[in-house]
Amino acid sequence: MLIGLNFTLGGTLELVQRLAKEGEIDYCELLIDNFLQVPPSELRDAFACPIGLHIMFSKFLESDAAYLESMAERLREYIDVLKPLYISDHLARFTHKGRTLYHLAELDYPNEYHHVRQRVDWWQEKLGQRLYLENYPSIMDGGHDAPEFFERLVQDTGAGVLFDASNAVCAQLNCGLGLDRWLNVIDSTTHFHVAGYSLSILEPKVVLDTHDVELSPETLAFLTRYKDHFDKPNATMTYERDENIEYDDIVSDLRKLRAIFGHPKGGTQ
Ligand SMILES: [Fe+2]
Repeated sequence: MLIGLNFTLGGTLELVQRLAKEGEIDYCELLIDNFLQVPPSELRDAFACPIGLHIMFSKFLESDAAYLESMAERLREYIDVLKPLYISDHLARFTHKGRTLYHLAELDYPNEYHHVRQRVDWWQEKLGQRLYLENYPSIMDGGHDAPEFFERLVQDTGAGVLFDASNAVCAQLNCGLGLDRWLNVIDSTTHFHVAGYSLSILEPKVVLDTHDVELSPETLAFLTRYKDHFDKPNATMTYERDENIEYDDIVSDLRKLRAIFGHPKGGTQ
């Protein structure tokens, strides 16, 4: 299992470079939307490690074709130069009846399947790449439809799932969706996310995918229990941290992941 860290803003560049140099991470995942003003070759030269590309704001289920075509053209330049380990995007709603939502909303899986399938086919074709699509940290009962939705989508479109293990734990805590329901999805993919989560400030309290604290015991137990399902050749697990970014805290969590999965072949023991 390759273990990586997300790189979202320029301010953490030195931290990511140091983690790579010290062997704490094997790759880093760029939130590519934030770096589309940086020439691809500069990004390539900034990192001595391999790179994954995570797309946040294509909003490919909602955006118009001209916007997406122009974004795809730009992204293909980065794909050509960076030769990423994978490219991922989000399956979520960013707007409702024309209004931008403050938080991304979960899809209405049964009713949106055909639209999503069509869009995934189209977006993969524009990017010229297999896409890995991330599962949502469900809050409401509709989350129970997610595992079968992803299984069907993978079969019909050839897309992969960027399976976020802690998002699945959030869904379990919020709406009781069993972690074992995801086993087929975990078996089908090689790219994973993991992060800390926190309780919402507002009532009723729900568990939110906040990337601001250490990994929970529930998440670590999930990874340990299904280790053999997660771990496979060329598999990647990105540790996401966007708040309270302290070197020692991040290293501590990365080492917990190493303790479960070990070092990739050829890495230091
Ligand atoms: Fe994630």
